[in-house]
Amino acid sequence: MKKTILTGIRPTGNLHLGHYFGATKNWVKLQDEYNSYIEIADVQALTDNFNNPEKVRKNVRELTIDLLSVGIDPNKATLFIQSQIPEIAELTVFYSNLVTMARLYRNPTVKTEIAQKKAIFGNDGESVTYGFVGYPVSQAADITAFKGELIPVGEDQLPLIEQCREIVRKFNNIYGNTLIEPEPLLSDNPRIKGLDGNEKMGKSLGNAIYLADNEEVISKKIMSAVTDTKKIKKDDPADPDKCMVYYYHKLIDNPNIDTVCSECKKGSRGCVACKKELINQMNEFLKPIREKRKYYEEHPEEVDKILKEGTIKAKEKAESTIKEVKSAMMIDY
Ligand code: TRP
Repeated sequence: MKKTILTGIRPTGNLHLGHYFGATKNWVKLQDEYNSYIEIADVQALTDNFNNPEKVRKNVRELTIDLLSVGIDPNKATLFIQSQIPEIAELTVFYSNLVTMARLYRNPTVKTEIAQKKAIFGNDGESVTYGFVGYPVSQAADITAFKGELIPVGEDQLPLIEQCREIVRKFNNIYGNTLIEPEPLLSDNPRIKGLDGNEKMGKSLGNAIYLADNEEVISKKIMSAVTDTKKIKKDDPADPDKCMVYYYHKLIDNPNIDTVCSECKKGSRGCVACKKELINQMNEFLKPIREKRKYYEEHPEEVDKILKEGTIKAKEKAESTIKEVKSAMMIDY
């Protein structure tokens, strides 16, 4: 029997190249080998966007279209909306007894995120909510509701998987063997750098190329990409490894990459020409994704149907789990 994988993504914006090469490209591959669940984690998105429900609502469909456009196949993977599975919320409440506040505050991912919030909002952490600190508990519910065995995640999510494993062990110890302890499925995907040369491409960093960007936007962004600052004149030799344009040529597999590299080093290639070539290549790369996006934008009812059917299927699984959980906890009236 195929193993079950479960992963989730917060609907707070469109997918960019960082998400694609870092995660979703891999999910497309995994859907052939595993029984796959992909959760649109709108409840988790609300933990730090509770005052902006419109944003989360809009991005549920946007993100679903992005996922379908890169090749997630609803006949292979179950795409569902977290908020529509009340069993996840129930499990979250039950699990909240199995984890201490101290342990949550020690969770490295939560810790980093709280530190970032403090830096952004400049407060002493007074505004950090119960829901936010507790989101690893809710994520443990996401995973266990579907008996997820393998969780495809990046490094930053490892502490959340560990926290889930602890909750599962404690649950099984106290109430009897009921839940499955998940394991992370770490991909060797690289972290994708931003247009400005930052180690991370990110929405909040303003350095991202989105899969949904149109030709005009792509052109503007690539023209602004950081190149080797030592190269001043068009025919100065430069170091491609210090250039984001070269980096993206490589990332999207430009078949002409060796020429790009050697001409850059020799100084026989100007940055403007090199950027223009990348713009063309990027548009080629995005073409099939854009075509699919256009189709789904014109057929919103199909997107809704995919989410509805996926959610029904996911709910059946969660209902069966919660039955076992309630029986184990002696609350099965
Ligand atoms: N926390 C994950 C992220 O920010 C998203 C997520 C929600 C998730 N539920 C999940 C990941 C369950 C793996 C399993 O990327």
